[in-house]
Amino acid sequence: MAAHYQVSGSTSAAISASVESGIRAGALAPGDTLPAVRALAADLGVSPATVAKAYQELRQRGLVATAGRHGTRVRPRPPVAARRAALLPPPLPGGRDVSAGQPDPRLLPPLGPHLAALAAGIGPPGGYATDAVLPDLAALAGERLAADGVPAGELTVTGGALDGIERLLAAHLRPGDAVAVEDPGWANLLDLIAALGLRTVGVPVDDDGPTVGGVRAALAAGVRALVVTSRAQNPTGAAVSADRADALRTLLDGRADLLLIEDDHAAELARVPLSPLAGATPAWAFVRSVSKPYGPDLRLAVLAGDEATVARVAGRARVGAGWVSTVLQRLVVSLWRDPATAELVRRAADSYDRRRDGLVAALAARGVAAHGRTGINVWVPVPDETVAITTLRDAGWSVAPGRLYRIAADPAVRVSVSALDEADIPALAEALTAGRKGPLLGGFEGSLQHGGLAGDG
Ligand SMILES: Cc1ncc(COP(=O)(O)O)c(C=O)c1O
Repeated sequence: MAAHYQVSGSTSAAISASVESGIRAGALAPGDTLPAVRALAADLGVSPATVAKAYQELRQRGLVATAGRHGTRVRPRPPVAARRAALLPPPLPGGRDVSAGQPDPRLLPPLGPHLAALAAGIGPPGGYATDAVLPDLAALAGERLAADGVPAGELTVTGGALDGIERLLAAHLRPGDAVAVEDPGWANLLDLIAALGLRTVGVPVDDDGPTVGGVRAALAAGVRALVVTSRAQNPTGAAVSADRADALRTLLDGRADLLLIEDDHAAELARVPLSPLAGATPAWAFVRSVSKPYGPDLRLAVLAGDEATVARVAGRARVGAGWVSTVLQRLVVSLWRDPATAELVRRAADSYDRRRDGLVAALAARGVAAHGRTGINVWVPVPDETVAITTLRDAGWSVAPGRLYRIAADPAVRVSVSALDEADIPALAEALTAGRKGPLLGGFEGSLQHGGLAGDG
């Protein structure tokens, strides 16, 4: 949608500040189109080069994206807090919201008993921590990772998976560098990459993970980093299979020019075995978050990797935020050691599996090949996203538009089963397939394109 906001300014700095202020005020919403360079230049009485420079600066900071004939648009989540929350459509009164990829709060282990035990044994107040990682946490995390085949001799702790990924990219790459990401891939990662002034190169993903051909093409395009989701890929539910891991390890073997990042955010919730790529390249990192099994509010992930990569992340943290609170680290240790918590996580995984498999089966019975092998999301191909979202809203369902996750992949919508009860599955499957003309066996056959900015439209 073209925005009704008057961009002002006579220098590139003033023009970009005016756009930023429009985003902050909510007058320029995600997806809004900025005026064409020449039109705005004529309007403001400046040269097109001045406007082009302003747009370039906004692009490098991840506020806008330029997508060929679609023009320059405000990105889905520009890294500037808007006063009015214009990021998502308003909640549907009386409707069901299955758009947020949060874990089901009903299935998260209660923290109260662990906090009480922690309080009882907390001891005197601590000062500035000398070590980034508590020895107990390092030992437990190391055991768990080693059991899954991840060499965990070197590890540190970050404020969640995305914080770890941000620190890794910032430590290894420079603005303008290209990062290979799964397409479709996690929207927040696409937003982060844009905000760091990096470029994305999409790698098609099927149920077994990123395709070998896609990774090969991304390497040929000169990417400096590759981010792979180990299991519960967001949005498709893909999990890297043993065969795919073998093929990718062979392809990546010894690539000294590439930083390999694995994101195992589902961790203990994932039901399929881990097939890690860790160690295939000299510079690698494996990040495992506690958000999905134990709660996103814990903001903690462990990051294992080669010595130089871990040292860069830990060393940079030391001169900045410092470390992840040892109170929080102790809480995670307490959760990891508790057999009752492990049982709750197992039951949560069962529940997600039933709901996800149930929805995929109900859609298959209606001729739609949806994807959702692991995790909490189902990716449903649709002929047209706007039509699908509107039809679903009319039927009382709010789903996430696929465009937030796609670069060149085919249209789809994302359904998070965490907010879906099993009893709702038939009604949602019906709404997702209503009005389709014949079966749509859509999948990952989307064209292989590279070098584009993360899609924002
Ligand atoms: C692919 C992926 N990685 C990581 C996360 C969670 O990251 P964090 O540990 O920052 O909460 C999510 C959450 O939805 C995700 O989808």
